[in-house]
Amino acid sequence: MAGIYIHIPFCKQKCFYCDFYSTTLLKNKPVFVKALNKEFYLQKDYLKNNCVETIYFGGGTPSVLTYDELMSIFNQIYNNFDVVDNPEITFEANPDDLTNDYLKELKHSPVNRLSIGVQSFFDDDLKTMNRRHNAAEAEAAVKLSQDVGFHNISLDLIYGLPKMNNQKWLHNLNTAFNLNIQHLSAYHLTYEPKTVFYNYLKNKIIIPVVEQESIDEYRTLVNKTKQEGFIHYEISNFGKKGFFSKHNSNYWRQEKYLGVGPSAHSFNNTSRQWNVKDTDKYISFIEKEILPYDSEILDPEKQYNDYIITSLRTMWGVDLDFLKEKFNERVVSYCLKSAEQYIKTKNMNLTDNHLILSEKGMLIADKIISDLFIIDEEVF
Ligand SMILES: C[S@@+](CC[C@H](N)C(=O)[O-])C[C@H]1O[C@@H](n2cnc3c(N)ncnc32)[C@H](O)[C@@H]1O
Ligand code: SF4
Repeated sequence: MAGIYIHIPFCKQKCFYCDFYSTTLLKNKPVFVKALNKEFYLQKDYLKNNCVETIYFGGGTPSVLTYDELMSIFNQIYNNFDVVDNPEITFEANPDDLTNDYLKELKHSPVNRLSIGVQSFFDDDLKTMNRRHNAAEAEAAVKLSQDVGFHNISLDLIYGLPKMNNQKWLHNLNTAFNLNIQHLSAYHLTYEPKTVFYNYLKNKIIIPVVEQESIDEYRTLVNKTKQEGFIHYEISNFGKKGFFSKHNSNYWRQEKYLGVGPSAHSFNNTSRQWNVKDTDKYISFIEKEILPYDSEILDPEKQYNDYIITSLRTMWGVDLDFLKEKFNERVVSYCLKSAEQYIKTKNMNLTDNHLILSEKGMLIADKIISDLFIIDEEVF
């Protein structure tokens, strides 16, 4: 089984916290879609004999695509790849693009899962973030999506925002759950270099929340999602049973995926490749039938470290039997030895030969992950 990720590199305006690759020059969209459709053909052998089980439109802003553009992309995918009968097809959308007419068109397309970027239900937060929509539009977009027949809906929210407090955060969570969603992605704000927020931080225009506030909001998130019957299946992802993101779960399970579009990454177990992060360069290379990517071969050390990064963030954790089968007994011993201190402090549990982070451990996941890394190739 495999997945396809499609990067739509356009945003009508740039949010102040975001460093995902995108451009605001939408005039290039028609020629970009043509190039993208050519890339599917040029990459048609990448997944070899694997069937495509999930398709994910991310960005940037996929909801800037017209219905005709979207359908041309589906045609190319179905013409060049073996797609299973009921694939999961996720479409990231910005609330202000989700008009009744557009949603009806989306419903006619093969898209069957919406990921709507709400970020906050407070207008002042949305303004600070330079979002294009307000809170009322976000709520209306979710309701309209349900009215046209989408019943697999995920929302994105950000916590740890400057001036946010636990009460405001709880209001955001309550509003999201009152909308009867199936999935929630909740990210703690990170200050990414080259973003406006990063500059504001450097110049003391915004003051980040203190650590205790972050911890309190995280606890609120964990408790509230549990109360609502959502399963915390990855650090930032919560879903009702049967509604986890299959596409992202496949990434975390190290399944193959092909990424098309500028900045998209692909992975086939032995190597990783990433397309150029520049839409003009992307288009001109593809027009000449050249795939504009860099790549790296994944040696055992990189494969092990990648596995730790992805698996430890999930509720399934690190499978020690898998490590033994894929690498050797020394790798298992190394991993267990590094994990020992975290098992003792209850940041991690060893259950059925799986190392799994506790809710407490998830708060310091990055530290634990880097402590489990192997930097000595002799272990292999
Ligand atoms: C590719 S982006 C969004 C897709 C869509 N264009 C939108 O804005 O709704 C995916 C999500 O990552 C999250 N995100 C992006 N940058 C972030 C940051 N610096 N800190 C925390 N979350 C971030 C936001 O929640 C965003 O919705
Ligand atoms: S959050 Fe979404 S709309 Fe905002 S800049 Fe990032 S990709 Fe574009």
